[in-house]
Amino acid sequence: MHILVTGGAGYIGSATAAYFLRNGHEVAVYDNLSRGHRAAVPAQARFIQGDIGDRSALEVLFQSFQFDAVVHFAALIEAGESMQQPGKYIQNNIAYSAVLLDVMLAHEVRKLVFSSTAAVYAAKDAPLREEDPLQPANLYGETKLMIEKMIGWYAQLKGLRFAYPALLQCLRCHAG
Ligand SMILES: NC(=O)c1ccc[n+]([C@@H]2O[C@H](COP(=O)([O-])OP(=O)(O)OC[C@H]3O[C@@H](n4cnc5c(N)ncnc54)[C@H](O)[C@@H]3O)[C@@H](O)[C@H]2O)c1
Repeated sequence: MHILVTGGAGYIGSATAAYFLRNGHEVAVYDNLSRGHRAAVPAQARFIQGDIGDRSALEVLFQSFQFDAVVHFAALIEAGESMQQPGKYIQNNIAYSAVLLDVMLAHEVRKLVFSSTAAVYAAKDAPLREEDPLQPANLYGETKLMIEKMIGWYAQLKGLRFAYPALLQCLRCHAG
């Protein structure tokens, strides 16, 4: 498969890109380097520096390459910062993910893996379970929950196929 990894210069995205390459896939990494590092991107991956909020750049990207799937890691991820700078998190995570989804679907790329977070659940001391209440304790978790909901609506209305592994032991999946 030809896989677009957003946020692929970050901690998890770069390791995931390397995993895909080891398993014979073609990988393009798209990252604005606001938090990630160019050196973390595997050498065999194509790297494109850009922002998921930049619709024109995404249009060019999806016109230039035929992706089979998108794995979406690009986000701001600090719970404390999200409470100090709410607008930044709402824009970068929610609004910009909407741009990405819109451009993907316009180019008929319908397979998405979304990197959500355990922070969508109410905090508790025991291990989390999938059926636990969705009740984020911070805005970071709330942005991820809102993106999950947005993805759900795109699945229902536009045929998007998705998975968002919020927890290792839980894969909430719409196989479609
Ligand atoms: N690290 C964890 O423990 C953890 C746990 C659960 C979920 N996640 C999720 O996994 C994903 C990756 O987390 P990470 O720990 O690798 O974070 P990270 O900060 O290392 O990586 C995020 C990457 O996204 C890029 N980015 C941010 N906004 C962007 C934008 N608008 N356009 C393009 N690129 C942008 C950053 O430059 C960075 O390289 C995040 O979505 C996070 O919510 C992480």
